[in-house]
Amino acid sequence: MSTSVGRSPGRVNLIGEHTDYNDGLCLPLTIPYATTVTATARDDDRVSARSSGQGEPWSGTLATTGPGQAEGWATYAVGVLWALREAGWELPGVDLEVESTVPMGAGLSSSAALECAVAVAMAGLVDRELTDELRHELVAACRRAESEVAGAPTGGLDQSAVLLSAPGAGLLIDFEDGSTRDVALPWGDAGLTLVVVDTQVSHTLTDGGYGARRADCEAAVEQLGLSSLRRATLADVDRLDDPRLQARARHVVTENGRVADAVTAIEAADWAELGRLMQASHVSLRDDYEVSCPELDVVVATALEAGAVGARMTGGGFGGSAIALVPSERTQAVRRAVDAAFVAEGFAAPRHLDAGPSGPAHLV
Ligand code: GLA
Repeated sequence: MSTSVGRSPGRVNLIGEHTDYNDGLCLPLTIPYATTVTATARDDDRVSARSSGQGEPWSGTLATTGPGQAEGWATYAVGVLWALREAGWELPGVDLEVESTVPMGAGLSSSAALECAVAVAMAGLVDRELTDELRHELVAACRRAESEVAGAPTGGLDQSAVLLSAPGAGLLIDFEDGSTRDVALPWGDAGLTLVVVDTQVSHTLTDGGYGARRADCEAAVEQLGLSSLRRATLADVDRLDDPRLQARARHVVTENGRVADAVTAIEAADWAELGRLMQASHVSLRDDYEVSCPELDVVVATALEAGAVGARMTGGGFGGSAIALVPSERTQAVRRAVDAAFVAEGFAAPRHLDAGPSGPAHLV
């Protein structure tokens, strides 16, 4: 029986948050935590999915992997089979075994890691070569699985990051035309390290807050009569009559500018400027987009006080993780300061993780 093993990393987003579904700019990087999926072909049409880190195994058939049929964690895995078949792939029944080191619900794209590891494993199983073109096809299938089967109305940042990044680099993504560019991240040469703090505040993208932000953006676009917020200026933002829609749109417009400025800063090795942009991004997400939470704000403030060059929440928000760019010799001091601040605030202990860049999803 033929077997194929796919592995996909999680990601952090360096900057460019809640811009993907607004045709905007993002700059994510892969992290050194990954999900591994072993796919074993069957000679019937049955499908099973089990995970060492999840509760219930799932079982069904190829025909029951689609919207409204699969349930629970496995929707992210078997939904990919549905999306690939929708795209015309002929797949055998399959047993999927999942193992993962990507923390769940931490805003580090454990869902995309699962989807993309399944997609890569299936490509291997049916002998499709992982060309750039195929990677783009897998991004599309994983996005459909996430939005249509799992019901998370996300914007494509995560799947693009984990499937399209080059080893060791960040990925500038322009969601208006779908183009990407590798961005080297040589902060290590300047003695800096990117660290991740998982607040352990649970984070889900299917419970309404994320969808409500998308709806606000759509309402703003409609009022402005534009094709997307990518086309909006700050003068347009002032034309909106609802202060909430103004704030949402202001975040998106200014965040796109910060991504472009961040790439310029990185290419000039101007780490202080990158830090300032990260900080401004966090403030905008906190005050205008309102997707931060007290734990994320404490990580960011504490990391900066303890010597970080820049810090911000990363990912969708409402909990999840923050990132901080810190002088390498300050890493432990920053982590200890965050731990102490969480104790002082009466928050549950955070979890400290390493950041990347690592490498994209691949066959093992
Ligand atoms: C989540 C979504 C992404 C993106 C970010 C916010 O990670 O899955 O599509 O919208 O939130 O930038």
